[in-house]
Amino acid sequence: MSDRVLGPPLRHDLTKAPVLVEIDGARTDPHSYARPSEARVVHVSLDLFVDFETRQLTGHARLRLDVAPGAAQVVLDTRDLVIRSVQDDHGRDLPFVLGESDPIRGQALSIDLAGSADLVIAYATRPEAPALQWLEAEQTTEGAAPFLYSQGHALLTRSWIPTQDSPAVRQTFDARIQVPADLTAVMSGHSLEIPDDSHGPFRTFAFHQGHPIPAYLLALAVGKIGFRSLGPRTGVYAEPARLDHAHAEFADLERMLDAAEALLGPYRWGRLDALVMPPSFPFGGMENPCLMFISPSILAGDRSLTSLLGHELAHAWSGNLVTNATWDDFWLNEGFTVYAELRIVEALYGRFRAEMLEVYGRRELLAEIERRGAGSHDTCLKLNLAGRDPLEGVTVTPYVKGATLLHAIERVVGRDRFDNYLRSWFERRAFTSVTTEEFLADVRRHLLQGEPGVESALDLERWVYAPGLPDNAPAVSSPRLTAVDVQVAAFVTGQAAAALDVQGWTTQEWRHFLNALPRGLAEARLADLEHTFALSARRNAEVLFAWLRLAVGHLYRPVTEALENFLIDQGRRKFVEPLYRELMDSEWGRSLATQIYQRARPRYHATTRATIDPIVHPPDAGAASGR
Ligand code: BES
Ligand code: ZN
Repeated sequence: MSDRVLGPPLRHDLTKAPVLVEIDGARTDPHSYARPSEARVVHVSLDLFVDFETRQLTGHARLRLDVAPGAAQVVLDTRDLVIRSVQDDHGRDLPFVLGESDPIRGQALSIDLAGSADLVIAYATRPEAPALQWLEAEQTTEGAAPFLYSQGHALLTRSWIPTQDSPAVRQTFDARIQVPADLTAVMSGHSLEIPDDSHGPFRTFAFHQGHPIPAYLLALAVGKIGFRSLGPRTGVYAEPARLDHAHAEFADLERMLDAAEALLGPYRWGRLDALVMPPSFPFGGMENPCLMFISPSILAGDRSLTSLLGHELAHAWSGNLVTNATWDDFWLNEGFTVYAELRIVEALYGRFRAEMLEVYGRRELLAEIERRGAGSHDTCLKLNLAGRDPLEGVTVTPYVKGATLLHAIERVVGRDRFDNYLRSWFERRAFTSVTTEEFLADVRRHLLQGEPGVESALDLERWVYAPGLPDNAPAVSSPRLTAVDVQVAAFVTGQAAAALDVQGWTTQEWRHFLNALPRGLAEARLADLEHTFALSARRNAEVLFAWLRLAVGHLYRPVTEALENFLIDQGRRKFVEPLYRELMDSEWGRSLATQIYQRARPRYHATTRATIDPIVHPPDAGAASGR
């Protein structure tokens, strides 16, 4: 890339940035170039123009730094940014250099401080910035206006903001965002009223986040977005055509927040709103502070998938208030969150519903452990992702094994004591980033101290540093799903679909039923299921996904059209990845996958494309066909 740097010519070589962030000396972040112990970003102030024509954000970021005595430069993370200039707050140019580009970490931006602790970086993003998805109007629900959103987690914020992009570096922010006058901007902070917000064809929105957050939580969305209130602190943003549906589906949000507070301590972020994303959003949800991003695939019509709201809101404590210091400690974000999610579900809907989710999670975890092999390091809670994309660590392990460890501790010390400990953990560690080792020391000191028997029964070291699921994991069971197993057995032994007892089944029962059916069913049996239960016509994404996966695994061709629509209409990784994988296992599937992906790919977010590219076009096949 020859046009990488559009800033002033380089004055001297500042490229000797070490690879690791030093977090208090011993701790390191292998995924950031920053050296926060020398100079640390503490506040980001954005002034950006959203240009849908060129698919660029242009403007500047003002950074306030905390500079250690004697430190001469600051190192920031960037990726594919066009850096126009770097100045101090008196308008003097500061020398800077962009380092070599690394496919995972991007480029270090090293700036000579010349005594300054405030920087103004004039820059632009590139149209293909991986954090940003620019959608054409027809990729939205209404088809009326284009849409833009950012997805920072894990290393992508650096492709739209030049800052220190490590979960160990926390920064407050404010922003002014200029957008076409008919669109609305929202961010992961509080909206500010601004007096004169219209400038002809443009309109300016202003935001403020007064709590220090890691860069991956800085988020922006722009589109035709309406709002409806749900409760005193909660509400929902969505395209107007989806607003009523989302409002009905998310009706329990305020109560969920109350339940989370009862469990985890006070909610410190003021408001909690949910933004319904376009269908291409690569995740089920993303815990952006004050404004969770939620995939429309959870709009099931019967509130049966709202545990995901509980999950994203629990991150307001585990993840956003107390953050994993590196992506190797990801289970501190996700394991705690799944644990809290299940407790919230239990408080709102009853134990039976949490049990169904526990059984589902355990099945997925055991399957993952088997798939990876007994000795795989990737089934340890403490990961080792140096040199790898942190997305590789996003497996069921940090989620479910992490939550299971907390269940195991709860089981041993009793729920009341564990709940007290959890609240004190969030209180003590509020607005800090922590390592797994700090958690272990903390739980020993504040919960297990003086009880060596309890400690040795738990064997925390084994949970954290050894692969697989320890045998002291509490058993899980769900009478509701056991009843479903009876229907599975009946069907497998020849009972017609119409004779099965499916009365009152919710998403969870259907999902369990379809996942529990064995391979090797005859085509006529699949046809019986499909027609009796109208499976290919289901609007519920979880049920449709489980059905399509079963069908593809059986090379059951009548689902072709439904499959095609599903893979093109939405881009959630959890759904599309297993389906493409399954398709690539057969001749029929391979040609179908290639054909569908050709149409679907331009509609997917960069994260989903990066996941699916190697599946549908494995590097070898690509080389052979000259790609
Ligand atoms: N923070 C994650 C999403 C994420 C993970 C984004 C890793 C980028 C990298 C979010 O909270 C999450 O866990 N989403 C899950 C929800 C589910 C477990 C309830 C998802 O998207 O499926
Ligand atoms: Zn999560």
